[in-house]
Amino acid sequence: MTTAKEWTKTSWKDYTALQQPNWPDSEKYEKVIDDLSVLPPLVFAGEIRALKEMLAKASRGEAFMLQGGDCSENFTQVTAPNIRETLKVLLQMSVVMTYAGGKPVIKVGRIAGQFAKPRSSDTEWVDGVEIPSYRGDMVNRIDPVKEARIPNPKFMLKGYYMAAATLNLLRAFTRGGYAALHRVQAWNQEFVVQSPMGRSYDRLAKQIDQAIKFMHTIGIPTDIPQVIQTQFFTSHEALLLGYEEAMTRVDSTTGDWYDCSAHLLWIGERTRQVDGAHVEFLRGVLNPIGIKIGPTCEIDDVKRLIETLNPENEAGRLTLITRLGIKNAGNVLPPLLREMKKEGFNIVWSCDPMHANTYTSESGRKTRDFNDIFEEITTFFHIHWAEGTIPGGVHLEMTGKNVTECVGGARNINDAELHHRYHTSCDPRLNAEQSLEVAFQIADMIKH
Ligand code: PEP
Ligand code: CO
Repeated sequence: MTTAKEWTKTSWKDYTALQQPNWPDSEKYEKVIDDLSVLPPLVFAGEIRALKEMLAKASRGEAFMLQGGDCSENFTQVTAPNIRETLKVLLQMSVVMTYAGGKPVIKVGRIAGQFAKPRSSDTEWVDGVEIPSYRGDMVNRIDPVKEARIPNPKFMLKGYYMAAATLNLLRAFTRGGYAALHRVQAWNQEFVVQSPMGRSYDRLAKQIDQAIKFMHTIGIPTDIPQVIQTQFFTSHEALLLGYEEAMTRVDSTTGDWYDCSAHLLWIGERTRQVDGAHVEFLRGVLNPIGIKIGPTCEIDDVKRLIETLNPENEAGRLTLITRLGIKNAGNVLPPLLREMKKEGFNIVWSCDPMHANTYTSESGRKTRDFNDIFEEITTFFHIHWAEGTIPGGVHLEMTGKNVTECVGGARNINDAELHHRYHTSCDPRLNAEQSLEVAFQIADMIKH
């Protein structure tokens, strides 16, 4: 691919698009894409630009990005309590990292659109029958029967409305007083309160409360937006290119193209080919872009990706999300950082300690060990410090609910306990308590 070629929102169609569903009826598919392309944008260009400016700060070490949420959102889980619990734990983590870590935290949810999944295989075997793989609620249904797995383009339309409903509530919570710093203590979750993490959180929340009361007492207004509101951004993997194309609009104030399905879009480890359709599509929209980088990455490919997606070397445009695994981080990260530093690329370096630490436990569950997650994060910080580069963010699969999907953590969940509350439809997530534990760990390191 040469960047000299003209970009249009459909130019990705001239390139190979991996991980796309086999939509059975192209007429129905095109109709859905047409319908989507006239619906209102989910996010606005001005918000996207604000996020990019904040990420530019993260690339210089002046802020830190916290990105987290479900591996895969489900339509049935789009409920007020679920959205509130996810937001609540992200707010808790962010307050810990800001107060104890001393850095502004950029809050980005894997939410309001994380409905499509790449799969390692097109099909799977269930009781001796080969059926198409589940590819996320925006494509097919999870039930392990053939009929449920046939891709239905109408699910993309439903995904749009689910994202709109989620965003609507998120905007209400973050603007309407729920996220006010007067409420930090109230965010603590019942099942977390009694744990060591819950108690540490409570102590910190009390200090913030006192600080706010003090400001109020001496006459500093505390009903200002910085105290009573928060900025919250959305993100998902830009996987279904037809959907993303339909959500891509020209910003009337600048004439530039933005993908208005979410503020930040990322390219997955399986679809980041430099000459592939995903890279072609995303090079033309001005959103901040994330790229997942796995342990088998080639340094030259990473360079070409950066040059293609960010030819102007604009700070805040690119986040490289390394997901190397505890076994490989120590070998893969140093030369990668060194080379990118030598090139002078402006990058937000973020750590995804989840995706390369997945394994199947003895009981047969897909899980991750809290210690591996913790260690990949620690290793990430240490290597950045050693190389003189900047650790700028973390990318987590997590939930506000009391699930038992990852082993370890303060309550030391073991393999035999995983089945108690194993609710994920894709990858195992940190529960609220494990997430808070990670937030305290990161706070300790970002104040470094
Ligand atoms: C994900 O983030 O859910 C994912 C599939 O990640 P990766 O592309 O890094 O495997
Ligand atoms: Co995942």
